[in-house]
Amino acid sequence: MFGAVVTTSTGKLATMSNRVKTGIAGIDTMLDGGIPQGNQVVIAGAPGTGKTLFAFEYIYKGAKLGEPGIFFSFNQDTESFLRTVKDTLTGFTDIDLLIEDKKLVILGYEETKTFIQKGSESTNYAFTGMISQLQSRIEDCQATRMAIDSLSYIKMYTKDPFEYRNLLTSLLIILGRQHVTSLITAEAGQEADGIHQEFFIYDGVISMGSVHGSGNRVLSIRKMRGANHAHGIAQYRITPNGINVTTPQTQQ
Ligand SMILES: Nc1ncnc2c1ncn2[C@@H]1O[C@H](COP(=O)(O)OP(=O)(O)OP(=O)(O)O)[C@@H](O)[C@H]1O
Ligand SMILES: [Mg+2]
Repeated sequence: MFGAVVTTSTGKLATMSNRVKTGIAGIDTMLDGGIPQGNQVVIAGAPGTGKTLFAFEYIYKGAKLGEPGIFFSFNQDTESFLRTVKDTLTGFTDIDLLIEDKKLVILGYEETKTFIQKGSESTNYAFTGMISQLQSRIEDCQATRMAIDSLSYIKMYTKDPFEYRNLLTSLLIILGRQHVTSLITAEAGQEADGIHQEFFIYDGVISMGSVHGSGNRVLSIRKMRGANHAHGIAQYRITPNGINVTTPQTQQ
């Protein structure tokens, strides 16, 4: 059955019934079923809020459903990344099997560093090859899910804001055309309401943070094109079985 047709930032059409389940406890309910297929979503938050684990769980849970996904890490090599997630998410016992099965692909820094080309001057970096490299990896794996961890790392190496926004816009358009549904992590302010101006480009914004002084972890869905999502602030915990989100405290 088809639902209402919506247009996303990348100009593509999606139906309300076409949802990609994150598999993260509590999130799919908040999203009224999942992320609308083809949406490019930023996971924004302060350091240590669980952005990387959130994005990894999304790829892992997809792999378990038979939906191939790629996790691109721009700051950790594959071996140390896997060690960290296996040490934290000890309930995810079949990571290696899913990798063998080619449902879960981790491309760590040893691979992604080739996406960044160093110019003749030490401060001069370029991302001209990045989008085509991402595209060819997605095609190789026939991935329908993707995570980029993190955008802030890419931003750090981009010379001027115009170049960065241009790259970001092209990236989101091309990912949309490939029908992948992506989570892209980004550093934001210390509090859960930390938000960057550029986030309007994305189809969705999920913000992770903590309540000042209490130590409670909280997240909210700031926007999700094509979904009648919850607007409240929800508490979450990081557990050996993944992120666990409890019901939003308030609905608007
Ligand atoms: N076993 C555990 N149980 C509960 N929480 C844990 C456990 N291991 C790690 N954590 C929490 O997870 C956080 C790391 O999660 P993650 O790497 O996903 O955060 P991040 O937002 O990506 O951080 P960064 O900004 O550094 O990239 C740690 O700071 C810690 O608070
Ligand atoms: Mg991280």
